[in-house]
Amino acid sequence: EKGNYRHFMQKEIFEQPTVVAQTLGSYLRQSDNSVALPQFDFDISAIKRVTIVACGTSYYAGMVAKYWFEQFARVPVDIDFASEFRYREPVLEDGGLALFISQSGETADTLAALRHCKAMGQTIGVVVNVPTSSMAREADLLLPTHAGPEIGVASTKAFTCQLAVLAALAAHMAVKKGLMTRAEEQEVVGHLLEAPAALNAALDHDDDIASMAHLIAPARDVLYLGRGPDYPLAMEGALKLKEISYIHAEGYASGEMKHGPIALIDEAVPVIVLAPSGPLFEKTVSNMEEVRARGGKIVLISDAEGLEEAGEGCLATIEMPRVHPLIAPLVYAIPVQLLAYHVACVKGTDVDQPRNLAKSVTVE
Ligand code: F6R
Repeated sequence: EKGNYRHFMQKEIFEQPTVVAQTLGSYLRQSDNSVALPQFDFDISAIKRVTIVACGTSYYAGMVAKYWFEQFARVPVDIDFASEFRYREPVLEDGGLALFISQSGETADTLAALRHCKAMGQTIGVVVNVPTSSMAREADLLLPTHAGPEIGVASTKAFTCQLAVLAALAAHMAVKKGLMTRAEEQEVVGHLLEAPAALNAALDHDDDIASMAHLIAPARDVLYLGRGPDYPLAMEGALKLKEISYIHAEGYASGEMKHGPIALIDEAVPVIVLAPSGPLFEKTVSNMEEVRARGGKIVLISDAEGLEEAGEGCLATIEMPRVHPLIAPLVYAIPVQLLAYHVACVKGTDVDQPRNLAKSVTVE
């Protein structure tokens, strides 16, 4: 039931602090700030390579996780769309973990890729929201997200819960490989446990986002820019906007702008910039200035410090809480979801049942 909400998508966006806390609670131990993954019967410290396969929003969660696996566990990561992975000839070495990410656990291409990897002798890890799904049944390492049923066709809470699980998994692998000290583990877990409160603080800006949605609704094209782990978030933001508002949108790595897409910039193309303050902030801001110099209209999403430094002259700004870079991808998911949601509401589209889309894609 939708309760007091207008749409399931809206309800599911607002459930995120609760369901992310639930999900983190089943992979982290709060009493001593440690990672506590379920027991499984293979040695995760011996994993030589991680191959991530997924579709759509789940794929973007995988892209964020690639940064974490590399940073914490120093393991090489390959990632692909399931529909592409299946039809190339991927090189799968012995001792690899193939990781499938799916809300439904039934996406046909992802399931077929899983079966292929299983036949090739890979260890099969599954991050899935539906515990009774086909993918859940075929996993060696089953890592459920505890988002609860997701009804809105556009995925929201499943995404942030996937990120929560993947961060815990990357930290676990780092601990087992001896690459993360006890003190570092406590610090990482401490930051992850700050996520639910930070998500709440992000949701507090719902009204601001609702009141600027009319600035984006008339656009024909919208660009999203981000760097590092916020680059997949830029693509996720663009996907959400296309899906439910039918506005053409693209997510780009900030530094790639000048290699082509900057040619699109004029006053009619809003550019949404995701830039939490931190090590990548200055670089992203200089890309933003390139856009501004060409008449581009910018919506800057950053924390108070970032907005103070670079918010002037923007079409609009959206303030996020100041968070550790590890949890920024979870927190910045909120404004991109809410922006897509409110733009769709302004346009009067069917938010929960967008045209041409199905919740679970069980055909190839
Ligand atoms: C985006 C969306 C789709 C799904 C994709 C994968 O909002 O809902 O892009 O993310 O179809 O679905 P699952 O995660 O069920 O495999």
